[in-house]
Amino acid sequence: MAKSKFEYVRLFEADDRCLPNTWIVVRVDGKGFHKFSTEHEYEKPNDIKALSLMNRAATSVMEEFKDVCLAYGQSDEYSFVFRKETQAYSRRSAKLSTNVCSLFTSAFVYYWNEYFPTSKPRYPPVFDGRTVLYPSNQNIRDYLSWRQADCHINNLYNTTFWTLILKGGLTPAEAESKLKGTLSGDKNEILFSQFGINYNTEPEMLRKGTVLVRRKIPVALPNGGTREKSQIVQEHVDIIGDEFWNTNTHLLTVT
Ligand code: GTP
Ligand code: MG
Repeated sequence: MAKSKFEYVRLFEADDRCLPNTWIVVRVDGKGFHKFSTEHEYEKPNDIKALSLMNRAATSVMEEFKDVCLAYGQSDEYSFVFRKETQAYSRRSAKLSTNVCSLFTSAFVYYWNEYFPTSKPRYPPVFDGRTVLYPSNQNIRDYLSWRQADCHINNLYNTTFWTLILKGGLTPAEAESKLKGTLSGDKNEILFSQFGINYNTEPEMLRKGTVLVRRKIPVALPNGGTREKSQIVQEHVDIIGDEFWNTNTHLLTVT
């Protein structure tokens, strides 16, 4: 078919293919979730229903994008790590970030009712998305460590802050000034000595966030035998130290 005279405008589209042989991470982050969480009465400091909905939406992304080998989520954000050699969308950056972000957002709304059965979203939630490249295994590990350290720092602060308010009767301003300049040991001490809370026994999903990986799980067959099936599983484990990576060497190995 003859091309129209307008065809040339295609040339204005920039080639945004990601460099070969690099880890591709797409991170989505809730827009204005400080407000969204308040408007939807998320429990403070953590709402297990809301975090579980985030995990469900991220699972939808991994079900659709088979080249995502690992995802990590905490608070209102999720990071999706694509295999280093993925050819999904010819590695086009905007295609990857917009498709992941769009599916994550629609799944968040689609599954809302399973986690918040008595309420509807009061307005459409928005997530931003970005694609970032990491050239070395150390870089991708450091990226994930950065996000998990962020989870730890924020969660310890928020847990102490809200305990001072909800159990200690402080105002938000008083709690803020009490925590100003404190180190993590001080916060652990406040929780333990004033409220009998051992931070280390708080649920791991809250302290460590959620890692999604694919694992071969034995499933029962009608004839009584079993078959291994790849399933997406949630783990709330440390990904900063070496142990996780030593027991999951396949994740960083290019096949
Ligand atoms: P932008 O991302 O810049 O648009 O701002 P934001 O308001 O989304 O803030 P940010 O992404 O930095 O932080 C996420 C915010 O979501 C937190 O500060 C909390 O206010 C809120 N949030 C996330 N998870 C929970 C939760 O489980 N419970 C409650 N109460 N709030 C949460
Ligand atoms: Mg946000």
